[in-house]
Amino acid sequence: MNKPVGAITRGTTAHNRLRRCDRWIAAVHGRRLRAVDRPLVVDLGYGASHVTTLELFTRLRRVSPGVEVVGIEIDPARVAVAKPYEREGLSFRLGGFELPVSRPPVLIRAFNVLRQYAEAEAWHYWDVLRGRLAPYGVLVEGTSSENGRRAVWVGLSSRGPETITFSARFDAFERPSDLADRLPKTLIHRNVPGERIHTFLRDFDHAWAVSAPYGVHGARQRWLAAVQALAGTWPVPTRPPLGGAARWRLGEVTLPWPAVSPRD
Ligand SMILES: C[S@@+](CC[C@H](N)C(=O)[O-])C[C@H]1O[C@@H](n2cnc3c(N)ncnc32)[C@H](O)[C@@H]1O
Repeated sequence: MNKPVGAITRGTTAHNRLRRCDRWIAAVHGRRLRAVDRPLVVDLGYGASHVTTLELFTRLRRVSPGVEVVGIEIDPARVAVAKPYEREGLSFRLGGFELPVSRPPVLIRAFNVLRQYAEAEAWHYWDVLRGRLAPYGVLVEGTSSENGRRAVWVGLSSRGPETITFSARFDAFERPSDLADRLPKTLIHRNVPGERIHTFLRDFDHAWAVSAPYGVHGARQRWLAAVQALAGTWPVPTRPPLGGAARWRLGEVTLPWPAVSPRD
C-alpha cells in the first residue's frame, strides 16, 4: 500500500460533537443517499475514537437503511482502536486524502481535519476530495468547537463549494460572529473588512441586536427573527431543505457559498 496522503494531527473528538452536522446531513442530503442502492459514505479523519463515525452511521441508517460508512484515519494506532467496533455496514481503515475505497462515495464528511493544514492545502484538498465523489455526491467539510456546540461547515459538489452553514446552541454564543472561530480554513483568514464573510457576520450581529426584543420569548425566537431579517438583504434560502423555520429554529442558517466566498 502506498503511504496515505496527509499528516497525522491531533485526534481530539467527543461523543455527539458532530450531532449538529449529522442532523443537517440527514435532513438535507438524506434523499441523495436514498437514491442509490448501497450508498457509500466516508468519514475522513475520525480521530482518537470511532465514536463520531458510529454516530454518523446510526443517524444515516435511519434515513437510508442501505448506507455503508467507512471511517478513514491516517494514524494506524487510531485504526487499530476502532477496528473492534466494526459491524455490518460500518468499517474502519487506514488512509488519507487518496481515500482507499472501492467505489466513489456519495458523501464524504471531513470534520476538524483541514483546519490543521495550511490554507493553500485546504483549498487543494477540497479539490482532491470533491474529485473523488460519485455523481451528485457531496463533501461536507467543517469545523466545530470541542463539544460541538458551535460549528460551521461547507457543502461541496464535484463542481466546487455550494453552501455554508452556521450552527450553534443558543447558550453557546453571545452574538453570531462568535462563530467566526469555527470558520473553515479557507475562510478563517478572510474575516477582515472588505471580505464578504466579514460583512455577513457584521450584518448577522446587527440583525441579532435589533431582534433583541424577541428574546423575551427565548433565544430561539430571537434567532428566527434575526435570520428572517438577514434574509431581507442576504440570499438566505427560505424553503426546505436548506432553509425555513424548521432549520432556523435549530440555531442554524445556510447560505449559498458565493455569498461569502473570498474576493480573490
Ligand atoms: C481533530 S481529529 C477530528 C476527529 C473527528 N472528525 C471530530 O471532528 O471529532 C482530526 C483527525 O484527522 C486525522 N487526519 C488528518 N489528516 C488526515 C488525512 N489526510 N486523512 C485521514 N485522516 C487524517 C488526524 O490524524 C486526526 O485523528
